[in-house]
Amino acid sequence: MTITATGLCAIRSGRTILHPTNVDIRPGERVGLVGASGSGKSTLGHALIDRLRAQGQRVAHVPQSPDEALDPLRSMAFHWREAEHALNLSPDPTRRQDLFAALHIEGSDLNKRPWGWSRGMQQRFVIAMALIGTPDLLVMDEPTSALDSVVAAGTMDLLDAYLSDRKTALLLITHDLGLAARRVNRLMVMEDGRIVEDAPTEQFLLAPVTQAAKSLCAHRNWLELPC
Ligand SMILES: Nc1ncnc2c1ncn2[C@@H]1O[C@H](COP(=O)(O)OP(=O)(O)OP(=O)(O)O)[C@@H](O)[C@H]1O
Ligand SMILES: [Mg+2]
Repeated sequence: MTITATGLCAIRSGRTILHPTNVDIRPGERVGLVGASGSGKSTLGHALIDRLRAQGQRVAHVPQSPDEALDPLRSMAFHWREAEHALNLSPDPTRRQDLFAALHIEGSDLNKRPWGWSRGMQQRFVIAMALIGTPDLLVMDEPTSALDSVVAAGTMDLLDAYLSDRKTALLLITHDLGLAARRVNRLMVMEDGRIVEDAPTEQFLLAPVTQAAKSLCAHRNWLELPC
């Protein structure tokens, strides 16, 4: 079933930072949300998550930094149990093994606190946690910007492989067109709280229409980077 949210908007301190916006995402679709810093990408991401959850859809969120998802005082095992508990799922060692294997964190010590793991491993753990409940949509907001480019690319490759034959759709929020273009089939561009362009990735790169999209495409040499 297509994920649909209409009339998403946000007003902060009397200022409209997200104008009424509709979003449709097909099952398994990979969509990038790009745009300059401050254009409203995270605001739209949060509004979409809130709305879809209110509609009873399963939506998982991966924040920019694992620090936002992990408590430094709690073990990794605790976080995993809490994530299962939050979704009313009984502990399932096979599910955990499968997700850990998919994200190459199998064999890691779950009794350690987050700071006992590297940041790249922490972020892969957070992605694995987000996938526990087989979400309809995974929203990732700058998921690899806290990682070095090689670890970032490896993490996105593992996620690509895991999602390849699944119905979970992906909304990848980033200001990095190079990262998004490699990973998604469709790109939406935000400017001043509005989606100003929405096109298949190839068409977007070949023939951007709006000034915001043209500015992003002007930096196409970024596409040569590994992630
Ligand atoms: N709580 C708030 N109160 C006032 N203004 C806010 C608030 N949250 C966000 N804004 C403003 O709304 C605009 C959009 O912010 P948002 O964080 O969604 O942008 P973004 O595209 O995600 O940027 P970035 O790429 O830097 O993460 C910005 O101008 C920001 O300053
Ligand atoms: Mg943001």
